[in-house]
Amino acid sequence: MKYKSVKGMEDILPQDVQVWQELERVARIVIESYGYKEIRTPLLEDTSIFVRSIGETTDIVTKEMYTFEDRKGRSLTLRPEGTAPMVRAYIEHSLDKALPDPARLYYIGPMFRSERPQKGRSRQFHQIGVEIIGSNDAFDDAELILLLDRMLRQFGLLSFTIKLNSLGCKKDKEEFEKRLKEYLKDKKGMLCDDCKNRVEKNVLRVLDCKNEKCIDTVKNAPSISDFICNKCGLDFTLVKTLLQYNNVSFAETKNLVRGLDYYTGTVFEIAHPRLGGQDALGAGGRYDNLVKDLGGHDVGAVGFGIGIERVLLALGDKKVVYMPEVIFFAALGKEAKKQCLSYADELRKIANDDPLKVKTVVRVGLSEASLKSQMRNAGNVGAKFVVIVGEDEIKKGEATVRNMSTKEQFQVKFEDLIQRLNKLLQ
Ligand code: HAM
Repeated sequence: MKYKSVKGMEDILPQDVQVWQELERVARIVIESYGYKEIRTPLLEDTSIFVRSIGETTDIVTKEMYTFEDRKGRSLTLRPEGTAPMVRAYIEHSLDKALPDPARLYYIGPMFRSERPQKGRSRQFHQIGVEIIGSNDAFDDAELILLLDRMLRQFGLLSFTIKLNSLGCKKDKEEFEKRLKEYLKDKKGMLCDDCKNRVEKNVLRVLDCKNEKCIDTVKNAPSISDFICNKCGLDFTLVKTLLQYNNVSFAETKNLVRGLDYYTGTVFEIAHPRLGGQDALGAGGRYDNLVKDLGGHDVGAVGFGIGIERVLLALGDKKVVYMPEVIFFAALGKEAKKQCLSYADELRKIANDDPLKVKTVVRVGLSEASLKSQMRNAGNVGAKFVVIVGEDEIKKGEATVRNMSTKEQFQVKFEDLIQRLNKLLQ
């Protein structure tokens, strides 16, 4: 039998992993420059955490979670998203006391949803999530969107659209849901099969259904903006004003409702032409009741998650890969190998002074291979310079350095070798 990875869950192979590392590196730098701290929560949580937060009638909870009983009969679920686990950890470890208020947290890691796999949709996918907990301030919504905009641009993405809406507070949202249900009560026959069910179970989702029939049916439906209270209206206006003031463009989108129940107030989604209409690059918003609903204090929160696979899809061939320089030591003979092993290590140390980035990869040909085969090997790994050390070089006390692109060769005394190579790399 030939084993394969589980359907919808993909290996990230060595030839692709560099792009992932680069994306994660850029993300960390941008996010941490705003004062966020990383949090790493387990992949498994009590099922009830997700049911309670994402919502019993949502697609994620009813159709997409990987849920199973452990040996003791406890129901566990592979996390389908990162917000609820992060809130659970925030409450469990009293992070409101341990961190400056509001707490600014981020995470990068795999999430699991049993969806039908297709381009940009997998069963194990990866999110970069950024969350502010303990905030009721619309300035935080704006700062978070500025961060998101900056991070996407830093990734090399330009033609994305930030869709923006407000769902109002819990009361506004409930009132609107009631009115929308009334409006759709005698129009069920004009909706797709999914939306027929949604009218009772998750009525807001009818608004963002992509089916032509449903789009037509909700064209004249009441709008959430008519139900928003004064405070939510002012907050939403402030967010929009702050974005405009900072030259971040957005598209106010009245039917943007989001598929998770915990959202209130500002919500947003990032669309990108390469992903088509169905899928978003990332999304987020306020979830002012979630901390309290999961047993914590009554504090507001706001955050977003972006899908790494979708960012890569949107980047297409434009992936900005940072390539470190490669130096190859071709060592011939025991004594040469002994010396090269130490030179290489010293060079690795001084040529990599940025803790966040590998600037120089140093490889040593330690096998018994001939010079010809080691040179071939150096070419294959993309070496910029090859340092040749054989018996002759040992006798003379100097190495031969070959510039692989110009084919130039020159001698460097062993005692100057590391400094000289480091200079050549600048
Ligand atoms: P979400 O909209 O469910 O929100 O997911 C956020 C992003 O994860 C999506 O925009 C997409 O890029 C990616 N994503 C979701 N499902 C898949 C999939 N099956 N395959 C590939 N990528 C996928 C959340 O998860 C919220 N926790 C975001 C948030 C954080 N809201 C507040 N804080």
